[in-house]
Amino acid sequence: MATDMQLAQNTLSPDLANGSVFPRGKNILAVASGKGGVGKTFFSISLTHALSRMGKKALLFDGDLGLANVDVQLGLMPKRDLNDVIRGRLSLDKVVQRYEDGGFDIIAGRSGQASLSALPSQRLGMLRDQLIDLSDAYDVVVVDLGAGVDRTVRMFSACATRTLLVSTDEPTSLTDAYAFIKLGAAAGMSKNISIVVNMASSKAEGEKTYKTLLKACENFLRLSPPLAGMVRQDPKVKETIRHQTPLLMRSPNCDAAGDIEKIAQFAYKEMVDEAKALQKAMRG
Ligand SMILES: Nc1ncnc2c1ncn2[C@@H]1O[C@H](COP(=O)(O)OP(=O)(O)O)[C@@H](O)[C@H]1O
Ligand SMILES: [Mg+2]
Repeated sequence: MATDMQLAQNTLSPDLANGSVFPRGKNILAVASGKGGVGKTFFSISLTHALSRMGKKALLFDGDLGLANVDVQLGLMPKRDLNDVIRGRLSLDKVVQRYEDGGFDIIAGRSGQASLSALPSQRLGMLRDQLIDLSDAYDVVVVDLGAGVDRTVRMFSACATRTLLVSTDEPTSLTDAYAFIKLGAAAGMSKNISIVVNMASSKAEGEKTYKTLLKACENFLRLSPPLAGMVRQDPKVKETIRHQTPLLMRSPNCDAAGDIEKIAQFAYKEMVDEAKALQKAMRG
């Protein structure tokens, strides 16, 4: 539960998207994208699964408040979800659901509930505070976000230890990823963004896509977001989603599975390093 202190803070600055004042988790990885349909939900599920297979105690939080679909991709029928928390019926820890097949926990969202994406800032702040509290019980929390940079995305991204920004090599996806970084910079969170290139036709193409984005960031924003890795386009992904089974269970040896395992290693280490740096900065 959020402490009185945290609530008071958020009441004083309900919509403050400033990294320095914002409460931040030490083990939260947010998954974001400029444009929808780039594979965020698939990637979030597979990343959480890979982290769990690395022996980490992991929680997947469906933070796409308008178009939640972690449960759909996994074929789950959650009895409780975020709606119960937002309506004040249950605390966040009470809607955690064990996903035995993947060995990790899930907090499901509620799809098509427009009211969830239009939550008052104070409610959203309470949800974030509950998530940060709950994260203490885990090694890592992965947050699947909605596309774009609306208030919900900004808030969760700013409280994350790092944000993994997913882009494909389509020009529109790239320009939207750039816009995300630019707007994020204005909100004080861009230093913590790493890039994931999804659906890359080859490693070389993925690398090229990243370089294009990096160049724009360096030239116009003076930022150099690192590459967390790339996930190749793989027919096994569609197949696995159709079967509502996680990729690392159904096709653990395919290209995309190996790519995601590599990213999980990288992102976990990056997150731990970031948390250490944060702690050091706080000690002064
Ligand atoms: N690496 C990949 N290879 C092939 N298809 C992919 C890959 N990643 C995602 N997809 C396809 O993209 C679709 C959209 O993915 P989804 O996770 O729902 O995106 P988002 O959450 O960003 O809207 C999936 O149904 C899947 O078919
Ligand atoms: Mg999604």
